[in-house]
Amino acid sequence: MAGFRGGCCVSAVPATIDATETLLAGQGYVASRALATVVFLSLKLGRPLFLEGEAGVGKTEIAKTLATALGRRLIRLQCYEGLDAASAVAEWNFAAQMVAIRAAEATGGGTAKADLFTEEFLIERPLLAAMRPQPGGAPVLLIDEIDRTDAPFEAFLLEALSEAQVTIPELGTIRAPEPPIVILTSNRTREVHDALKRRCLYHWVDYPGFDREMEILHARAPEAQEVLSREVVGFVQRLRREDLFKKPGVAETIDWAKCLLALDVIALSPEVIADTLGAILKYQDDIQKISGSEAKRMLEQVRQELTPA
Ligand SMILES: Nc1ncnc2c1ncn2[C@@H]1O[C@H](COP(=O)(O)OP(=O)(O)OP(=O)(O)O)[C@@H](O)[C@H]1O
Ligand SMILES: [Mg+2]
Repeated sequence: MAGFRGGCCVSAVPATIDATETLLAGQGYVASRALATVVFLSLKLGRPLFLEGEAGVGKTEIAKTLATALGRRLIRLQCYEGLDAASAVAEWNFAAQMVAIRAAEATGGGTAKADLFTEEFLIERPLLAAMRPQPGGAPVLLIDEIDRTDAPFEAFLLEALSEAQVTIPELGTIRAPEPPIVILTSNRTREVHDALKRRCLYHWVDYPGFDREMEILHARAPEAQEVLSREVVGFVQRLRREDLFKKPGVAETIDWAKCLLALDVIALSPEVIADTLGAILKYQDDIQKISGSEAKRMLEQVRQELTPA
């Protein structure tokens, strides 16, 4: 397979930036050159990739796309406030342990502590799963929305990632035979600690420009006609220049195009925009700001910008 290295095509890792772009594009993910470069480097150097950016710009999607494209298992650790090491690595199945104790008592035998803290009674959570060998090669470990956790969890994660191992006190240390491909995402609701960032390659995922957003829309909503797609992308790009509480992401562009298609709309009008604004703006203040004569004015501007000089 030209441009790829690796034992078998299932787990082949791209050998160039171009091959990385092609690999992602094959799954409908349109990456900027800068993003394709950090993805390529992260795979080549075996370094975690830290993606920060606004909501709905394709941070989580890149991990899903990579897993599918490389034929690897995707393991997702969804972060939340209060997430601790035990919930991220493994927990003991107390119910099963109790049953084992009762069964041993009923047959007159005892149960040694060592018998109860074995793999049989372990409930595997994402970080432990990511350290296990997987068919097709090392899995893709997505640590999603790390900014929702706290500093102690970050410190714990730092150790697990730099050593590619986790420790379960009753069992010992479990080391990954091959480190997982790690992607961390953050919406930057708080700054993630430097120590963790330093271990990773970093990329800020920005809103795409007009041409790339058109390519993304073609990939994700191919049924949309060129005229409608250009107006939708032009209008969303124009909206992002406004002072809004929450600017629409790429996800909203795709959603809006699909809503318009479902309504058999072939071109935008101020009325259509007013009726469907909820697909791109999710705050009443933002909707109020844009609806009415403002939408009409913006649409006229967009049409002017789209008209070739
Ligand atoms: N470059 C891209 N190519 C193809 N599809 C994209 C791209 N960027 C975004 N998308 C689409 O946008 C959707 C939302 O992306 P995703 O969920 O990855 O965003 P996110 O950055 O993780 O957002 P959040 O911060 O809200 O979690 C995806 O399902 C995907 O269809
Ligand atoms: Mg996400």
